[in-house]
Amino acid sequence: MSAELDQVRAQAAALEQMLEIYELTVSEQSQKLERQAEELRRSNEALEQYAYVISHDLQEPLRMVAAYSELIAERYRGKLDETADKYIAFAVGGARRMQELINALLDYSRISTRGKDFARVSLDEVAADAVQNLSVAIREAQAEVVREPLGAVIGDRIQLTQLLQNLIANALKFRSENVPPRIRIAGALEGDGFHLRVSDNGIGIEERYHKRIFVVFQRLNPKKYPGTGIGLSICQRIAERHGGSIRVESEPGKGSTFHVVLGAGRAAESA
Ligand SMILES: Nc1ncnc2c1ncn2[C@@H]1O[C@H](COP(=O)(O)OP(=O)(O)O)[C@@H](O)[C@H]1O
Ligand SMILES: [Mg+2]
Repeated sequence: MSAELDQVRAQAAALEQMLEIYELTVSEQSQKLERQAEELRRSNEALEQYAYVISHDLQEPLRMVAAYSELIAERYRGKLDETADKYIAFAVGGARRMQELINALLDYSRISTRGKDFARVSLDEVAADAVQNLSVAIREAQAEVVREPLGAVIGDRIQLTQLLQNLIANALKFRSENVPPRIRIAGALEGDGFHLRVSDNGIGIEERYHKRIFVVFQRLNPKKYPGTGIGLSICQRIAERHGGSIRVESEPGKGSTFHVVLGAGRAAESA
């Protein structure tokens, strides 16, 4: 996908710049950092815009493919031979899957354009909402969710709920086969913003994939688990829109902790 390529290129360029920075004086450093942040913001916006155009334009022709392959499936089921039924089922399945991916890409592309204005948001309420929205899945997995007191940040309530919901949904999905899932949501205000942590006791992630999982469409076990590979890219864009970042700390078999920094959180103290 060229959108992915663009992101990788942007990341490579940002890394190169970071290396150069060591040779600069302190004031030059901060100037350069500001420019770099601006560039990164712009390249992410460009990526979003690109994702929007592609997914939006693909929707219509794809609707035709999906509708007509489903029509063929209905009308000719059992009237051709078994192989034909099988091939048609593949076509229907493929078209549906593609619609799912395109819709996920559209969601991703709307993070900054459909974002709401920032206001004071209680993260305790956000976490409670996210848990409530997933209550069926939590019950089915017999998961225990521990919510520690969080506090408030300045941000977009809907997006922060979406962020936490994606992380909790992942913790449920990528659970260990041996123990019931235990998920802990904690956080505190620190120097550079609000630090939010979502920990699980699930299957964990090898270190070499710790960056890749945040890239659009990247999934580590696509055969075993359903999904689109967009969830964490959405979390990353939401964290970035809040002047922050996201990273994972994890080892296979030892669970994962997702660390989210919300830079805009600093302002909540005075709000
Ligand atoms: N809590 C977790 N534990 C283990 N692996 C995870 C966890 N969260 C995400 N991953 C890995 O990162 C990949 C990307 O996550 P995500 O973007 O949410 O996509 P999806 O959930 O659709 O697969 C997942 O496919 C999985 O391999
Ligand atoms: Mg997910």
